[in-house]
Amino acid sequence: MTSQEFNIAVVLAAGKGKRMAIDTPKQYLHLFGHPIIWYSLKACEEDPQINAVILVCGPDETEYCRERIVKPYRFQKVAAVIEGGAERYDSVWRALQEIRRQKEAGLIPACTYVLVHDGARPLLNAQILGRCLEGVREHGACAAGMPAKDTIKICDEKGTVLQTPDRAALWTVQTPQTFEYDLLYGAYRKMYENLPQGITDDAMVVEQMTDHKVTMIMGSYRNIKITTPEDMELAKAYLADENENLTTREDIAHERV
Ligand code: CTP
Ligand code: MG
Repeated sequence: MTSQEFNIAVVLAAGKGKRMAIDTPKQYLHLFGHPIIWYSLKACEEDPQINAVILVCGPDETEYCRERIVKPYRFQKVAAVIEGGAERYDSVWRALQEIRRQKEAGLIPACTYVLVHDGARPLLNAQILGRCLEGVREHGACAAGMPAKDTIKICDEKGTVLQTPDRAALWTVQTPQTFEYDLLYGAYRKMYENLPQGITDDAMVVEQMTDHKVTMIMGSYRNIKITTPEDMELAKAYLADENENLTTREDIAHERV
């Protein structure tokens, strides 16, 4: 890291987790006694290349996140806990605006690189964060992902195969997705002038709203997103393998507000 950089991680936790089909949003479910969101926050807290974190959560969850997660776990880098929006991209846009607001208020320096991460991906680690920052320094815009292992079919609504793209050209996309802050802010601002359909990640915003090319960098096959219940089992196995010292903090109350 050059001393001029000020890098901010946006950790997203404002989703409702509908595909998990339970009441508690998945990012607050526990694995080894810690809420899922804790794992991403911890990876950012421990990485010297990350200077601040914006945690984005649901409208009724800011108090819970501040009092039950940020304070008791002593996450020093969390500069704000803010409310997200209806769609994932609304949550990201609010975080980008909060970063701007804090800069204008003199609370933080100008943001160099912004890393947008799904709080529902607890397998984030120092290696992935390192590759994200290397990638963004070289390319200005990069998304973590992995070469597709399965053959992918493009189908119509009846399931009839229309096309089988060359697997060698296909990547599955993960987070963090990392950008020069000004590039991502400009792309998002432009997107809201005439909101397109079907925006599912931040790279798409840059692809569609700017001429800047996005580069894929290696995430990890373990960097899964908790989306449906069976993902919990997989995440548990990977977390246990990667964190030998996982212990339950019994002194911290975890009940949801
Ligand atoms: N997210 C967000 N704001 C939204 C929607 C999603 O911050 N309005 C976050 C989620 O909390 C999650 C990440 O974006 O960390 C990826 O989204 P996804 O896996 O789709 O989570 P949910 O939207 O919560 O799940 P579902 O789509 O099943 O409802
Ligand atoms: Mg969703």
